[in-house]
Amino acid sequence: MQKFENPFRPGAGHTPPYLAGRDAERAEFSKLLRQSTVMENLVLTGLRGVGKTVLLEEFRPIATGEGWLWAGNDLSESASVSESSLAQRFLVDLSVVTSGIVIEIDPGRQVGFAPASERVTSRMDYEMLAHVYDSTPGLVMDKLKAVLEFAAFHLGREGSDRLVFAYDEAQNLADNDSNEQYPLSLLLDTFQSLQRKGIRFMLVLTGLPTLFPKLVEARTYAERMFRVVQLDRLTESESRDAVELPIQKEECPVTFRPETVARIVSESGGYPYFIQFYGKEIFDVWKKQNDADEAMNASFDGIQRKLDIDFFSGRWARLTDRQREMIWTIAQLEHPEAEFEIPDVVDRSKSVLDKPFSASHTNQMLASLAEKGFVYKTRTGKYTFAVPLLKEFVLRNYQTSSER
Ligand SMILES: Nc1ncnc2c1ncn2[C@@H]1O[C@H](COP(=O)(O)OP(=O)(O)OP(=O)(O)O)[C@@H](O)[C@H]1O
Ligand SMILES: [Mg+2]
Repeated sequence: MQKFENPFRPGAGHTPPYLAGRDAERAEFSKLLRQSTVMENLVLTGLRGVGKTVLLEEFRPIATGEGWLWAGNDLSESASVSESSLAQRFLVDLSVVTSGIVIEIDPGRQVGFAPASERVTSRMDYEMLAHVYDSTPGLVMDKLKAVLEFAAFHLGREGSDRLVFAYDEAQNLADNDSNEQYPLSLLLDTFQSLQRKGIRFMLVLTGLPTLFPKLVEARTYAERMFRVVQLDRLTESESRDAVELPIQKEECPVTFRPETVARIVSESGGYPYFIQFYGKEIFDVWKKQNDADEAMNASFDGIQRKLDIDFFSGRWARLTDRQREMIWTIAQLEHPEAEFEIPDVVDRSKSVLDKPFSASHTNQMLASLAEKGFVYKTRTGKYTFAVPLLKEFVLRNYQTSSER
């Protein structure tokens, strides 16, 4: 008999065995694909591990099925540092879809290359795009636009002029006054200008919840340029499907009892990464144990400890003592998973800490916690935790100096 492998896939960007839910998001994306002139682009945001990368991958066949071409990549920090590095990123990604196109080029430009009387053709590969880029005078934006318009023209002649540019981790993009680099504005201005001209290139950006406020801060018109889809935790029944469907297979050696499934659903809080994590661990434990039910509680505790080490500890280690006290204080709020404001934290710290925080100190600390990716500031100026299930981790593991 074939060995049935553990189907669960906790990990960044790993396709889950069953992608639960997300029907509304898929429908929203399909709607955008039906625009005859691209007026709206997509921003897909959500907390760490909520499933942005795998959903973006799901979007690809939807788009190509509707006749769109697809280009894209991760916007790593290095691709985002300067305008020209971002432009390079676009050239490389665009060349993947254009390199199959062969066009006739002006032989006069190819002196010593071929007799002027002969037809000269060349593939629209990276070198050709880079040539268009380099030979266009002006700013980075002029050059990038020239390349994209050139590509749009030839793609149109080939009969497929609709192209999605999909970029993951787009929260890395930022304008930077100190070195006078504005890659984020470059991206927005370029696409706005192309779309105004009727070129059917659509942007799909995914990233942490800071992404959309950043876009709007760079260019207020970004508000109208993007449809924002916020990915949330899965519902209870979607979470159950995510746990159960991958193991409801004939060859599967393991079954989870309804209590086990319910426990995974509640411990994971409906967050996809945690569902995969618990699913994987429990599958392994159950496979080894004959009398799984008795061991259930012990196993969950062990798995939780492992989760704390695998997912949270590394992040936690990057905080100072005082920052940890602040996170702990926030975890003591009545609804720490909802938005909170500076006075909430100040008030709470008076009752739970020996050394409470002042308002200005709180303000400063929240800014540094935002930089470290623990909280983020919403567009209304409130804050929320940026790491799922952070409250639960903190309350499980952390005691303040006064408690100790
Ligand atoms: N709808 C879903 N159903 C089941 N599992 C899912 C679903 N979406 C994501 N997952 C799983 O959750 C984990 C995280 O997914 P993914 O890497 O796409 O999240 P992300 O939002 O891109 O995270 P990050 O912000 O860290 O990049 C993966 O293990 C993936 O298999
Ligand atoms: Mg991701």
